[in-house]
Amino acid sequence: MPNLLTMNNLENDKIMNLLKRAEQFEKGEKASLDGAVVNLFFEPSTRTKMSFEMAEHRLGLSVLPFETAFSSILKGETLYDTVKTMEAIGVKAVIIRHEEEEYYQQLAGCKVAVINGGDGSGQHPTQSLLDLYTIHQEFGRIDGIHVTIVGDIAHSRVAKSNAAALKQLGAKVSFVCPEEWSGDYDTTDDLDALIGETDVVMMLRVQHERHAVSALFSKERYHKEFGLTEARERKMKKGAIIMHPAPINRGVEIADSLVECKRSRIFKQMENGVFVRMAVLEYAMKGRE
Ligand code: CP
Repeated sequence: MPNLLTMNNLENDKIMNLLKRAEQFEKGEKASLDGAVVNLFFEPSTRTKMSFEMAEHRLGLSVLPFETAFSSILKGETLYDTVKTMEAIGVKAVIIRHEEEEYYQQLAGCKVAVINGGDGSGQHPTQSLLDLYTIHQEFGRIDGIHVTIVGDIAHSRVAKSNAAALKQLGAKVSFVCPEEWSGDYDTTDDLDALIGETDVVMMLRVQHERHAVSALFSKERYHKEFGLTEARERKMKKGAIIMHPAPINRGVEIADSLVECKRSRIFKQMENGVFVRMAVLEYAMKGRE
């Protein structure tokens, strides 16, 4: 069965087919899948875990509960043996979020379908697909759209998955962040220079949990230099939209008042996540693209 591990090797036609299928689900098309799935979340999650659960229920799948805190992982069992156990008891697909980048390399010998729900600072393919879906829904295309990704680029799996997929699909992608969060990307620290010429302003959460030292971080200073303030929102292009994968640090990367403003698609992204994850589950479990 096909896995979905990263956006780096997902061809454009596969991406567009998944988005098309998500649109069919959004328009009310029904599908029914046989089998059991497990959501193995070793890092906290609200959106990804719950929207996968919603997608699984809508597809008629059996969802086996898994709680890390009550699993044999605590007795030292490896991820590989955990996934092989799921396979042995008849599970067809596992959705995994894990703090280790590329944890999925150790699962190469598993037959069960693996869907990556986020690997450390590596990739977050289903978030990227729902972001692409939201952009396509808004503009009717991705090619030629200017997306500015702002924030903690180096630690963001969302930025990495989206940068790869957006460029591959013909979008123009700019990156804005403090220099120390640039990672391998060509970035600027001047959000004001880009705010008026971008179609999508994609704000990222500051990932304190992945920083070695965060004691020096000032929320107020960050908001002033890199946050989406009301003043910056007023300079955005007509028709430009605001996105954020969430969870949001209100008042840090985005002003509280903008989270649900007219331009914001933040909660629409979450709604779209269910349709996209239905399409991904179908792709993984039936090989349907
Ligand atoms: N966007 C996202 O991955 O949110 P969660 O961490 O709540 O799943």
